[in-house]
Parts: sequence; C-alpha cells; structure tokens
Amino acid sequence: MNRSILGALAGIGAALTLTTASAEITFRHAVTGEALSFEYGKAGGDTAAFKTFKETGKNPYNTDKDMIEKGHSLYLSACSGCHGHEAEGKLGPGLADDYWTYPRGATDVGLFEILWGGAQGMMGPQSTNLNSDEMLQIMAWLRSVYKGDPSKAEWLK
Ligand code: HEC
Repeated sequence: MNRSILGALAGIGAALTLTTASAEITFRHAVTGEALSFEYGKAGGDTAAFKTFKETGKNPYNTDKDMIEKGHSLYLSACSGCHGHEAEGKLGPGLADDYWTYPRGATDVGLFEILWGGAQGMMGPQSTNLNSDEMLQIMAWLRSVYKGDPSKAEWLK
C-alpha cells in the first residue's frame, strides 16, 4: 500500500474515533425500547462520572471502593426490600447471578436502563428516588458482589 492511501486511512480512523467519542449513547426502556429522557427524575446526578458513562457506557465507579460502599448503603435502602440484602432475590429476581430476565442487564448500559426507566410491575422507574450518579454507585456495588460465571460478565468486555 502506498503512503497516501495509508495517510488517508489514518485520517478516516481519526475521524471515526472523534465521532464515537463525542456521540452520546441512546438509553432505551428495557421493555418498550423507547428512548429514555434525562429531563425528568431526581436532580444532582449530572456528575463527571455520569457524563463519562453517557459517552462510553463504562461505569467509572466499578473500580472505586468508596463509591461501591456508598452504593451498598443506597442499595440497602432502595432495593434490598424487594431484591434481598445480598441481591440474592426475594420479590424481585436475584441481581448478583448471571441469569437475566433482560439479558442487557449484563451490560452496564442495560442495567442502567432498567434502573432509570424501570421494567414491569413492581419494578417501576427508580429515577424519582435516585439520581443517575446514585444509580452508578448501586450498579458498582452490584457488580462487586457478582457470583455468576465470569465469562458472562459483559460489563467487563
Ligand atoms: C417494589 C419492589 C422493587 C424495588 C423497590 C426494586 N425492584 Fe427491581 N425488580 C422488582 C421486580 C418485581 C422485578 C421483575 C420485573 C420484570 O421482570 O419486569 C425487578 C427487576 C429488576 C431488574 C431486572 C433483573 C433481570 O433479571 O433482568 C433489575 C436489574 C432490578 N430490578 C434492579 C433494582 C434495583 C437496583 C433497585 C433499587 C434501586 C430495584 N430494582 C428496586 C421489584 C423491585
């Protein structure tokens, strides 16, 4: 391949990277597939971590011990009544295993979509009670107690 073709390819590569980096992910309701809006819901969640998450789909708190601990106490007040203290399942399904009613729950974007927009029945949108940053904290705790097959941990891929 000659140099000008290589140069052109490198240019296209750079342009594609730029496009991906600035585009935000569209989050969708787990059941209806409708695009979710962040215009409503509990305020205060528009943090640097959430901005990163909206662009990359990666939860920066997954490796942050303090945030995982905060997520644990939020989980205990907002979720454990239905999902069990260890996320082992109760009225709602277990959240620390690798079985998902909504398979996208194995990705962080999919898990966030279920929390923000809700699913069916008793699993309403959690966005009136928790802001988006608090959801990332809870998600990080859930990932930290994961007991499923490591090869099914899609959020690590
Ligand atoms: C009032 C009870 C209730 C509360 C509170 C609740 N959930 Fe749920 N949750 C449910 C039920 C019931 C389902 C099953 C709904 C369905 O299948 O559509 C569910 C489903 C889910 C799912 C989908 C699981 C799968 O296998 O795909 C996730 C993830 C989830 N909840 C996370 C949470 C988190 C995190 C919280 C706290 C912020 C929470 N829920 C609060 C009852 C609840």
